[in-house]
Amino acid sequence: MNLRNKSLLLSFAFSMAVSAPAMANEQVSAEGAQSEVIHLAQVSGANIFNRNLKKEEQRNAPPPEDGIHDTENEGTFVLQAPLEAYQGLPPSEYGNYVDWVKAIDEKKLNPRWDRVNSAEEPFVMDMDIVREVKASVPDVVFPHRQHTEWLACSNCHPAIFIPQKGANQINMSGILLGQQCGVCHGKVSFPITTKSCVKCHSKPKPADWQPPLSESTLKNPWR
Ligand code: HEC
Ligand code: HEC
Ligand code: HEC
Repeated sequence: MNLRNKSLLLSFAFSMAVSAPAMANEQVSAEGAQSEVIHLAQVSGANIFNRNLKKEEQRNAPPPEDGIHDTENEGTFVLQAPLEAYQGLPPSEYGNYVDWVKAIDEKKLNPRWDRVNSAEEPFVMDMDIVREVKASVPDVVFPHRQHTEWLACSNCHPAIFIPQKGANQINMSGILLGQQCGVCHGKVSFPITTKSCVKCHSKPKPADWQPPLSESTLKNPWR
């Protein structure tokens, strides 16, 4: 990530922290903030559609060669290489090949919540949100616990998601373009690949599930 992107991200995080207290009752400001997110997705080239599909030449390349870190920054060359840093962490089949949620669950990692204060604890909230998908793929379970172990509420609310079940329009096109879940997935958390669908689409459809019929089919049943 180059410096320009970094300062954009910082100002983005800051503006969300400021707007967070008003989150529950201000839909208008939530919408205003949402257009900010679209702006973020446009300035960041890291999560473009092709990147999700591209086969990496080398797994977890060292920072100067990974195409993400700024090669004009000297700091990039002193960073520990991931292949070395990730040793001993539970593996996964995509992204940077580490199952980060498992790493915390198995206590292989104990990330510091606050950069300065090592005693600061995260506010972990265990609440699953099930999003029923109209298509035949399994339904999506969004788990708050696994997210709030890493992230404060203000990373998502209200700028990316209005905190109300079903209030947000979410779909795969948006996600693959780096919006909604795709603000993070494919960039700082596991990407959308054919192997990772089931991570999000984890709730099987009920046995009697039928595809919903469109309004025109209902009006003009096909005979
Ligand atoms: C990684 C993003 C993310 C983080 C972090 C996050 N949430 Fe959410 N939250 C969501 C999503 C997605 C939904 C579902 C929205 C929908 O269905 O349209 C949601 C829904 C909610 C809801 C609505 C529940 C309902 O039944 O209507 C509340 C309340 C909420 N979140 C509170 C919080 C709090 C408090 C925190 C911090 C402890 C938090 N969230 C952290 C993404 C997040
Ligand atoms: C603000 C960033 C952010 C957003 C937005 C976000 N996630 Fe995540 N998500 C993460 C991080 C960080 C992790 C943990 C690291 C990892 O597994 O890659 C994670 C992990 C997960 C996991 C794995 C849980 C496990 O047990 O392994 C699921 C499932 C998931 N996210 C679904 C979603 C869905 C669905 C959405 C959109 C409704 C979403 N996420 C939006 C950052 C985000
Ligand atoms: C990061 C989480 C995540 C991953 C990974 C993911 N999806 Fe989705 N998917 C969602 C969410 C959230 C929705 C919207 C659900 C809703 O209607 O509320 C969705 C919706 C869909 C839909 C319904 C049509 C649409 O665009 O809304 C299809 C089909 C679908 N996903 C297929 C897939 C396939 C195939 C994969 C693997 C290549 C995949 N998804 C991977 C989160 C994810």
